[in-house]
Amino acid sequence: MEHQRILLIGGGGREHALAVSITKSPLCDKLFISPGNPGTAACGENIPLNLRDFDEILDFIRQKDITLCVIGPEKPLVDGLTDFLESHGISVFGPTAAAAKLEGSKSFAKEIMQKYDIPTAGYQSFEKQDWHLVQKYIEKKQKWPIVLKADGLAAGKGVFICENKSDALEALDSLQNDPSLSAASAKIVIEEFMEGEEVSVFAVSDGKISKILFQAQDHKRIGEGDTGPNTGGMGAYGPAPLLDESGLAHIDEAVIKPTIRAMAKEGIPYKGILYAGLMMTTEGPKVVEYNCRFGDPECQVILPALKTDIVEIMLAAANGNLDEISISIAKEYYTCVVLASEGYPGAIEKGRVITGIPDTTDDSFVFHAGTSQSENGNIVTNGGRVLNVVAKGDTLKKSIEQAYSVLKSIQFDGMYYRRDIGKKGLDRLSE
Ligand code: AMP
Ligand code: GLY
Repeated sequence: MEHQRILLIGGGGREHALAVSITKSPLCDKLFISPGNPGTAACGENIPLNLRDFDEILDFIRQKDITLCVIGPEKPLVDGLTDFLESHGISVFGPTAAAAKLEGSKSFAKEIMQKYDIPTAGYQSFEKQDWHLVQKYIEKKQKWPIVLKADGLAAGKGVFICENKSDALEALDSLQNDPSLSAASAKIVIEEFMEGEEVSVFAVSDGKISKILFQAQDHKRIGEGDTGPNTGGMGAYGPAPLLDESGLAHIDEAVIKPTIRAMAKEGIPYKGILYAGLMMTTEGPKVVEYNCRFGDPECQVILPALKTDIVEIMLAAANGNLDEISISIAKEYYTCVVLASEGYPGAIEKGRVITGIPDTTDDSFVFHAGTSQSENGNIVTNGGRVLNVVAKGDTLKKSIEQAYSVLKSIQFDGMYYRRDIGKKGLDRLSE
């Protein structure tokens, strides 16, 4: 197979994990990361491109003879970076804008699920001009809770679980009037509330077929015991015991494969990572949401577990020959603990010096997320989620213990992390 010169778009912990795996591949000749972070700088060359300027990205790709572009975050995918680059003959790992609508528009995702019998919560969607009907709907509602969602991308801020009428009216007011939500709220989706434990299933597709990669459990809330506001994710572990082999096979048949077939049938083949967020309800697994990329921090436990060359997988997905490769996953468990800045997911202070980042070992790694390098060479905090400590173990318990042991040497003012990452998995294993 031809050696690749690769441009990776993104700069979080997910992209550091991707960069480490990509550079391990014998198929990777050279890696550029834009914007990258101090962690990815050790894997390749960080390049500060303006990611809103697709022409600037294309110029760079041509100048550096790049053969494959890997897009980490959802925004450039939903904005059509894949379409733009593919129209100029560049191979891209990541769905087109029309396919990324599975994440970029919740009403689109719901329509697909309804049309193709993919299990999910019942819903109604409302256009902006019909918002007065949302109010009527809320006034008449008897069964609580309900879930109000902005249709578009809202950086995790567009979902409101409403216990009663006054919660729902308040959520509606935020969706209508909060300037940070108005772009995402051109439509509003109201969903039935689903009760259960959540799990994330990751598959890769070439537009025709799909293959399951891994299942993991995220920890979305800031506080231990799943309390407090939602975050981008405070930790992950996998494989999650919530889904055994037959449970995963069921999700493949009931959700993943039907979704890929549905998109192909609609004339918008889905290429790249399909991430299904699922609720394990008493009626069986139901889709909470689709995402069109790797999860962050789930990616940080998936990639170290992946034994198949990630570049080979990406090329097969981009070139439509995923049927020619088989995917193999390590049998160990992986746990990732996110170290965050105090105040996250609210306002945080940047620039705090980080010390004691341990070297990578065979069974532990530290991925950079919100860090930067100061003028005097210190690694300092530069965001809400700062570092991701990942460890592997023969058992889930060992991987958790190892992650918490490795992070002990790391220090920065106001460092915060959850102490119960993976606990739900341990509880389930001891049942
Ligand atoms: P989403 O961005 O759609 O994944 O929603 C964010 C989080 O809100 C999910 O991870 C769930 O914890 C919760 N959530 C969303 N929709 C529902 C629902 N219909 N029932 C229960 N919880 C939900
Ligand atoms: N960990 C949740 C996400 O990446 O959306």
